Amino acid sequence: CGIVGYVGGQPALDVVIAGLKRLEYRGYDSAGVAVQTGTDGLLAVDKRAGKLANLEKSLADAPLPGGTTGIGHTRWATHGGPTDANAHPHLDGANRVAVVHNGIIENFAALRAELAERGHELRSETDTEVVAHLLGEEYAPAGGDLAEAMRRVCRRLDGAFTLVAVHADAPGVVVGARRNSPLVVGRGEGENFLASDVAAFIAHTREAIELGQDQVVELRADAVTVTDFDGAPADVREYHVDWDASAAEKGGYDYFMLKEIAEQPKAVADTLLGRIGTDGRLTLDEVRIEDRVLRAVDKIVIVACGTAFHAGMIAKYAIEHWTRLPCEVELASEFRYRDPILDQQTLVIAISQSGETMDTLMALRHAREQGAKVLAICNTNGSTIPRESDAVLYTHAGPEVAVASTKAFLTQLVACYLVALYLGQVRGTKWGDEINTVIRQLADAPRQVEEVLGTMEPVRELARSLSSASAVLFLGRHVGYPVALEGALKLKELAYMHAEGFAAGELKHGPIALIEQDLPVVVVVPSPRGRSVLHDKIVSNIQEIRARGARTIVIAEEGDETVAPYADHLIRIPVTPTLLQPLVSTVPLQVFACELATARGHEVDQPRNLAKSVTVE
Ligand code: G6P
Repeated sequence: CGIVGYVGGQPALDVVIAGLKRLEYRGYDSAGVAVQTGTDGLLAVDKRAGKLANLEKSLADAPLPGGTTGIGHTRWATHGGPTDANAHPHLDGANRVAVVHNGIIENFAALRAELAERGHELRSETDTEVVAHLLGEEYAPAGGDLAEAMRRVCRRLDGAFTLVAVHADAPGVVVGARRNSPLVVGRGEGENFLASDVAAFIAHTREAIELGQDQVVELRADAVTVTDFDGAPADVREYHVDWDASAAEKGGYDYFMLKEIAEQPKAVADTLLGRIGTDGRLTLDEVRIEDRVLRAVDKIVIVACGTAFHAGMIAKYAIEHWTRLPCEVELASEFRYRDPILDQQTLVIAISQSGETMDTLMALRHAREQGAKVLAICNTNGSTIPRESDAVLYTHAGPEVAVASTKAFLTQLVACYLVALYLGQVRGTKWGDEINTVIRQLADAPRQVEEVLGTMEPVRELARSLSSASAVLFLGRHVGYPVALEGALKLKELAYMHAEGFAAGELKHGPIALIEQDLPVVVVVPSPRGRSVLHDKIVSNIQEIRARGARTIVIAEEGDETVAPYADHLIRIPVTPTLLQPLVSTVPLQVFACELATARGHEVDQPRNLAKSVTVE
């Protein structure tokens, strides 16, 4: 969910709504606002199911009284469906407190029962409403100090939460609390902001304070006070945001996703920047894990979710090949609950664009508890996952807004290659010469991605022609297998089509039964150079499916003529070393999914049921 709070001299509603627009990627099931109206000490509240536009329409039809202190929320539903009643803010029984919330309060059922016993009547099915009632109860005993009331309530809550509240009797005060889910303060002149992400206030200020775990903040127009849950003053990290509002805007594109696909050459270049020395060796100074420790590593475990997990699957091939270290890759949500074997010699790599994904965060905490070292690969400066890791390699893709990840994925791949090559360099494997060559080839990746982007028109045409297909399959081998999975995931996310990725060799063990006349099947073909056996095997697989009626869409290297006779559609990509091929073979699949979804009339930036950052387990 996305959260915004404001106190200052501007109309709070305008600031809050503009902030929510920038946070809509965090969820868009429903949205709501609460404003202190000042004059009669009342809270004006409006909340609507559906996208933010529904709330804006409602506010246009029935404007709320003005005020300069307010909060807002855009929701990704957990407890209770996306209805008007379940939308945030939630109020206490007397309508004096309004609360917005991100996360899950695990003991809410017990708290709800307690409140019911004390005569409270709750109006929604959400866990959040419980907090509003508790805050209402605690306000007077806390001496009319909303921050103190919040601390008392937080001490009773289990689970993960970010809370932001206003009270009708505390004009000009917004209070926030953070456990696990992110919350950032934006410092202005005579005004202050609170949000789950700096994007919400970047148009007003670039000076930010990141709240730590278990902290409460009281925001006034001219003061920001941070304490822990017991009221002791807390240490905070102040920082300057190094991008501006334009980076979070569409810049002439119809969708963020199109802009982010187009930005990939620059994103990849930015991830490489300063990391390849003039002597062709890698310098990853930010990786604060000493070379001595890296030499002692005897196993690598990668944890991630969604698209980042696919980057991890590709990294496994690169790491095992260049470092000769065993590498496992696992979905973060599965990892923690199966008693994995870890010790001081294990290096865990947590990959996350947002740095907030709760499943990944919990996996890394578990790994550190077992003594493993954790290296984060992350795109969001100062977010929770890098803060809790031993080291971090930032991807520098810039803000990614579209829910379906594109430029973040490509830069995660680059970061994974850098880590694999660096480990190889530090540990000195027999692939020393190959490593030096690959580092040079990696430096050429931005140009190659640019080249692919320049040839995408036929892919768009093909996607439009398939808009009424009922399913699409994706096949790959080696690193092409995770690429196939990623291609299928993109299509599921955006076009709501049945799409599956398979290891091409596994086809004959089951999935081939799915092949029927005219079923589109996308095949990612490895380079015929290098490991040519891989290439030859997949050419056979293409023949097998074509013989059974599939319509073959083949992604193959420039100059690879052997595949041409079996391809109904041929998509060319530049000549690349086998392990680096995903950097170029993924791009057509992104374009394909985006165009197909658009042709089916879907809004690609905000696919149904999804959110970009999932801060619940
Ligand atoms: C969500 C998004 C996915 C993303 C995944 C991991 O499910 O919808 O697109 O890949 O989270 O996100 P992260 O921020 O950890 O990379």
